[in-house]
Amino acid sequence: MPRGVIERYRTLLPVTRKTPVVTLLEGSTPLIRAKRLEKELGQKGLELYLKYEGVNPTGSFKDRGMTVAVSKALEEKARAVICASTGNTSASAAAYAGRAGLRCVVLVPKAKIALGKLAQALVHGADVVAINGNFDQALRMVVEISRTRRITLVNSINPNRIEGQKTAAFEICDDLGVPDYHAIPVGNAGNITAYWKGYREYRAKGKISRLPKMIGFQALGASPIVQGRVFRNPKTVATAIRIGNPASWQSAVRAREESGGLIDTVTDREILSAYRMLASLEGIFVEPASAASVAGVLKLSRKKFFKKKRIVCVLTGHGLKDPDAAFKQVSPPRTVKAELKRVLEAIL
Ligand code: F0G
Repeated sequence: MPRGVIERYRTLLPVTRKTPVVTLLEGSTPLIRAKRLEKELGQKGLELYLKYEGVNPTGSFKDRGMTVAVSKALEEKARAVICASTGNTSASAAAYAGRAGLRCVVLVPKAKIALGKLAQALVHGADVVAINGNFDQALRMVVEISRTRRITLVNSINPNRIEGQKTAAFEICDDLGVPDYHAIPVGNAGNITAYWKGYREYRAKGKISRLPKMIGFQALGASPIVQGRVFRNPKTVATAIRIGNPASWQSAVRAREESGGLIDTVTDREILSAYRMLASLEGIFVEPASAASVAGVLKLSRKKFFKKKRIVCVLTGHGLKDPDAAFKQVSPPRTVKAELKRVLEAIL
């Protein structure tokens, strides 16, 4: 029987028998060896694995955290949940809140959210408010609102979100063992925090005996952690990680320091190149932000950075989320008359 992450890892999560489990059977996502991409790396003999989180029920890794956050909100008799979002959190919150019978309010930056994500939040019945501002401003406002009203915040500063998201690290260890390097896009920095927590807990339980180096990647135009300063006006094609003042900044730095890893930048051009390579070489369609992990590994391998061989890249969200980004990378199909001769001319 398929199980969601709460049933699969119940003893490692903050739930009891009394917690009403709200699940869409998220998690248990594939870890896919990427042999054709391995050939494109600047170092020989590396093993590259892709944790494809885009196949979660709403198309991103957020579902792992949302099943826990919404189940706990329901247990605590909340009536409503609220979040700020670059898109995926809002889609996931809207879906799980809908299933739980809770009201869902989301604040998104106007015109900087991918079409599919906005469609999801609206169809799932969330109250969506677009602000003339960015994610960081939206987050400040929802934090304030949740402090003063009876409405549960489901951004990743809610510890239940991190608890749910750490299960992806458990799955990687269960499927592969401990990787040498764990590569991940960094936006608000909740996910790098969650994976690092997951790996450490699995070691404390004796399930693994060592830890991976955490290597995070921010888009150059939205790289506050790398540059050590807040970005007032973050810019990147990877709208999901267009964040200038990450809420989990300090814990991302801790994950980097404690693991002996790094947090580096990738350019939009590098992100889009990795995006096309994932789709054309491996058959894996991701949204631009997700390609940041692979872009980073391509960049570091060209500098012969890797001393050990086994690398896991997290692919955080599905490519169908952002059709506009896809169409900007390709030419439109040729149109011909509905005649065999014309079709043959077009394809030969
Ligand atoms: N990749 C995708 C596809 C995302 O949607 C996000 C974050 C990240 C990476 C970065 O993860 O914030 O934990 O460091 N999206 C949030 C949202 C901000 O609102 O959907 P992070």
